[in-house]
Amino acid sequence: MRVAALLTCLLAGCLAEKPHPCESPALLSGLLSVSTQNEKLWTVAKYLYDALGQRVRIMELGTYENKSFTYDALLLFREAAMYEIHEHNRTCLKKPLKADFQPMAIPKDATLLGQFVLGSSSGPGEGLLVNSWAGDLPDKSGKYVSTVTEFGCVPVTSVSHTEQFGWVVTSFVNNIKGITDPSQLNPPEFCPDAEMKGSEVEPTDFLSLFLSKK
Ligand SMILES: *[C@@H]1O[C@H](CO)[C@@H](O)[C@H](O)[C@H]1NC(C)=O
Ligand SMILES: *[C@@H]1O[C@H](CO)[C@@H](O)[C@H](O)[C@H]1NC(C)=O
Repeated sequence: MRVAALLTCLLAGCLAEKPHPCESPALLSGLLSVSTQNEKLWTVAKYLYDALGQRVRIMELGTYENKSFTYDALLLFREAAMYEIHEHNRTCLKKPLKADFQPMAIPKDATLLGQFVLGSSSGPGEGLLVNSWAGDLPDKSGKYVSTVTEFGCVPVTSVSHTEQFGWVVTSFVNNIKGITDPSQLNPPEFCPDAEMKGSEVEPTDFLSLFLSKK
């Protein structure tokens, strides 16, 4: 009887829990791509994310309306400053950053759409178990669907829809827990200490950072 109960439990996955909203690892590095419907933007970026120090570095290579561009920015939320870095000629602009740090997380009020296997569940190593969640964007400007791994809450994709940009798809790959090169989260020595006056860059999240520079 007990064995039968145990077996049933094992088969039904008695250890498996209902997915819960979760917070992504506090330190992450990897690659992300962003593409938008309206803005004709397509970009791939190396990113470093430090939720403990509230620092984000984005090094992008993209095309906007068929023109390619590069963009390299360091956001220091605690200091309310962002740096636009031009490694090639060793110049740097410091600008005010008027935004709160938003940790990468599935908000508590998100609705579970389901649990899925990306790839295949037929063989070991062929699939990735993920949870998809939906909800309203923090500023109520639209909706999002975010997919994270069941194990580790690592971001996989995020799709949002706003009137301004239409559909925006962000995909994360090659994520590593941790920061590969911590020095990239400090302003390079050629960056100024003083902010530029009169600059109005106010990204509120990853997305507006990508779009606001146009
Ligand atoms: C981008 O290129 C495509 C194909 O060459 C062209 O159809 C489109 O009009 C171009 N868009 C812009 C904004 O230049
Ligand atoms: C450095 O490069 C950036 C981007 O290409 C350019 O906007 C800036 O004017 C350059 N600065 C100098 C001093 O050449």
